[in-house]
Amino acid sequence: MKSTVGVGVIGFGKVGSEVVRLLVEGIEGTGFRLELRRVADLDITTPRGVEVPRRALTTRAEEVVGAEDVDIVVELIGGIEPARSFLLEAIQRGKDVVTANKALLAQCGDELFQAAWERMVDVGFEASVGGGIPLIRAIREGLAEERIERLYGILNGTTNYILTRMEEDGLSFEKALREAQEAGYAEADPSLDVSGRDTLQKLVVLLRVAFGMSVALEEVFCEGIERITPQDLEYAEEFGYKVKLLAVAHRVGERVEARVHPALVPQRAMLANVREEFNALELVGKGVGHQLFYGKGAGGRPTARAVVADVVALAGRRLSGATPRVRSLLKNSGLKLLPMKDVILPYYFRFLALDRPGVLAQISRVLAEEGISISSVIQKGRAEEAVPVVMMTHEAKEEAVRRAVARIDRLEVIRGRTQVIRVEELC
Ligand code: HSE
Repeated sequence: MKSTVGVGVIGFGKVGSEVVRLLVEGIEGTGFRLELRRVADLDITTPRGVEVPRRALTTRAEEVVGAEDVDIVVELIGGIEPARSFLLEAIQRGKDVVTANKALLAQCGDELFQAAWERMVDVGFEASVGGGIPLIRAIREGLAEERIERLYGILNGTTNYILTRMEEDGLSFEKALREAQEAGYAEADPSLDVSGRDTLQKLVVLLRVAFGMSVALEEVFCEGIERITPQDLEYAEEFGYKVKLLAVAHRVGERVEARVHPALVPQRAMLANVREEFNALELVGKGVGHQLFYGKGAGGRPTARAVVADVVALAGRRLSGATPRVRSLLKNSGLKLLPMKDVILPYYFRFLALDRPGVLAQISRVLAEEGISISSVIQKGRAEEAVPVVMMTHEAKEEAVRRAVARIDRLEVIRGRTQVIRVEELC
């Protein structure tokens, strides 16, 4: 007779109901049976389009965590508490856990992994980064012995959808955001998406998996897409670029540069062509060179696939008695972050300047004094009042750029705050 592994799910929302559906329909070809034993949600009356036995439904997550017949607890409620306590309690009771909770992993990953290792159980978190794309597994298993030099990610479906619609259909930021929300990609609080914070949480998870680093969210530079305008997308195009919200991690000697911000990426780059809600991660490994992972990074169905794949993997490990893989996550590489002020990149500037002789000379004098070299410049139109002056620079140090822009914004000929977007050549 086949062995059976009991599964409990906390959170019967978009992802949760898809996970439940897959479990109820039955998972084939595993050599064991996965049985859904409990589902907890504060709302157990709204129909989810999937039949769950009445006795399996509960409003109390504690019942899932405490159930003797639940071997694997799946947490899909998000946020730090009570998710953290439920997972720690499940681990203490010797259960394996699966979570899609990037906020929790980014903030309390070390604690969860350590607790799991002490109890000899495992943690699955494939769905926390890149939705349905099996990125975590690719890095931890497929590239286990690889030295990853760089990674560039488009890791938020909502912002990628917004930027695509602004660029291709000329939609305003607000309208594009509304559409992304209606399509079900956005977080409950969409400011997490647009501020870059959702991407930041995912980058912190990747820093642990790909670089063996334990980094606090506050240590990583993060800027969102709120200040990007349709004009920036148009001007970027004239220079041969698209704008993407990127997560970047890059080895520089014994340091790692890690940052999240909108970036101009060359139109010919594969990442530039990742459109709508799709996600992608480009890795550069010492041995393997460039690799690109691409797929649906948001939405209930794709994310549920990643959750179920983790449940299958953890159930197999549990039955075989193999050592939990969580151990590899406790190793610290000793790599340190490079401070943002020392990062060196090319930049895009959009100044709003009076249209009169000598204005460009004043701007370029400040840039020259700060050691920033201009590579090209265009002025958009003529006007009595201010006009946009768009400039691309050669590589410059972040701290010099900040100083220069602060000085330029104080010039009498400048009207309004200068737009600064970093350029990522991706080579
Ligand atoms: N809000 C996220 C996104 C969902 O838009 O990518 C997946 O984390």
